[in-house]
Amino acid sequence: MSEIKRSKIKDLLHMEAGVEVLAKGWVRTKRGNKDIAFIALNDGSTIYNVQIVVNKADFDESLLAKITTGACIGVSGKLVESIGGEQAVEIQAASIEIYGECDPMRYPIQKKGCTMEFLRTVAHMRPRTNIFGAVLRVRNQMAFAIHEYFHSKGFVYLNTPLITASDCEGAGQMFKVTTLDLENLPRNKKGQVDYSQDFFGKETSLTVSGQLEGELGATALGEIYTFGPTFRAENSNTPRHLAEFWMVEPEMAFYDIKDNMDLAEDFIKHLVKYALENCKDDIKFLNDKVDNELISRLESVISTDFVRLPYTEGIKILEEAIANGTQFEYPVSWGTDLQSEHERYLVEKHFCKPVILTDYPKDIKAFYMKQNDDGKTVRAMDVLFSKIGEIIGGSEREASLEKLDARINELGMSRKGLEWYVDTRRFGSCPHSGFGLGFERLLLFVTGMSNIRDVIPFPRTPKNAEY
Ligand code: 4AD
Ligand code: MG
Repeated sequence: MSEIKRSKIKDLLHMEAGVEVLAKGWVRTKRGNKDIAFIALNDGSTIYNVQIVVNKADFDESLLAKITTGACIGVSGKLVESIGGEQAVEIQAASIEIYGECDPMRYPIQKKGCTMEFLRTVAHMRPRTNIFGAVLRVRNQMAFAIHEYFHSKGFVYLNTPLITASDCEGAGQMFKVTTLDLENLPRNKKGQVDYSQDFFGKETSLTVSGQLEGELGATALGEIYTFGPTFRAENSNTPRHLAEFWMVEPEMAFYDIKDNMDLAEDFIKHLVKYALENCKDDIKFLNDKVDNELISRLESVISTDFVRLPYTEGIKILEEAIANGTQFEYPVSWGTDLQSEHERYLVEKHFCKPVILTDYPKDIKAFYMKQNDDGKTVRAMDVLFSKIGEIIGGSEREASLEKLDARINELGMSRKGLEWYVDTRRFGSCPHSGFGLGFERLLLFVTGMSNIRDVIPFPRTPKNAEY
């Protein structure tokens, strides 16, 4: 077996019949009759399996008995034209090696009864299923497409810290990082925890966003992006929230809110197009098995202009909808933060296309956003998508030292840990903008999956940190 080089199943399925091949992978199914066995083998390189045809008389019965669903095997033999099979070619087995047996009584991934909920309880094994294989391959392609997109535009990939002493979004939803003995905390004279004795000599947390450091990068390098994990200790048990998720945050000097919206729209369209072109087999599979409207939804996003609408106009539309009998769980009025039901109403019912909502009330947005002349709103932009709601959040940033200072004071924020950030406005301040795309929210859209726990390999959610 060792003389032949192993081929990935993805490549092997496109080879000419007649060659000798070696395939290695995990058994999906074995069926057959008393003379012949058919094994469907998958190695993760493609959604498709290769069919192995085994002439039972040529092999030991004890070896064949070990070929059960989930077992890992290597098979060499001739690639022959397949008669009646889904694929053009199949392997006529000449030799089979068993690498790892798989007890059929204990293997959790059975063909029947594997709901998404059940698979979450065996998330260490679920990448072996067709759906998760497809989702994880699409995830990989999308990560590559993100880097490629920004690289081609000359953006610098900036690595921002995961451990931080500042709360970018100001929402207080941070996981603390400490080496203090929680059973025996050091206290100062006032009885407060004495963080000067902690590892970093101050209170630190896992970051909720790389933006503040991203702004330092943009105001030196011009255009940067970050792409990494972010953490939020919000106790939101919804199909759209994770405690650990990946965010892409571009930040650009000399961009105003319009340039920012143009980039966000072009970026998402590019990613969706990339998925349709480069993940054809997996997207087709997800369209067939998970969501029959997936491909048409993806195609329509590429070809439509996103609606651009001020928040105030959005509220009017929602209030009119209520007056005309639409019922929402949460109330709507100027000044309230929109719930996902409201966002989805605008996108799915009213406009029937993606919406970029701008100019939100300053009190429901973060301190760093550029203040409009009306004194009430800020130059925020949220991109809203069907089925998901908010997929991107961003803004033009407040470039004026005076105004930023005033807002920090107004909100009663501690200045101590923020002086370095304010320095960007103190020394050569410039107009700039940026946004954050939730990577898993993008993946929900691109794969048609309905729960965010199913587009990340090992989800972190309230009361769940398994694996
Ligand atoms: O709107 P957010 O909170 O914006 C920021 O963090 C800004 N600092 C971004 C920036 O301007 N550079 O988060 C940005 C995006 C959201 O639109 C959403 O897609 C995603 O991150 N997101 C989450 N995704 C999964 N689980 C959560 N708990 C999320 N919270 C936000
Ligand atoms: Mg947001």
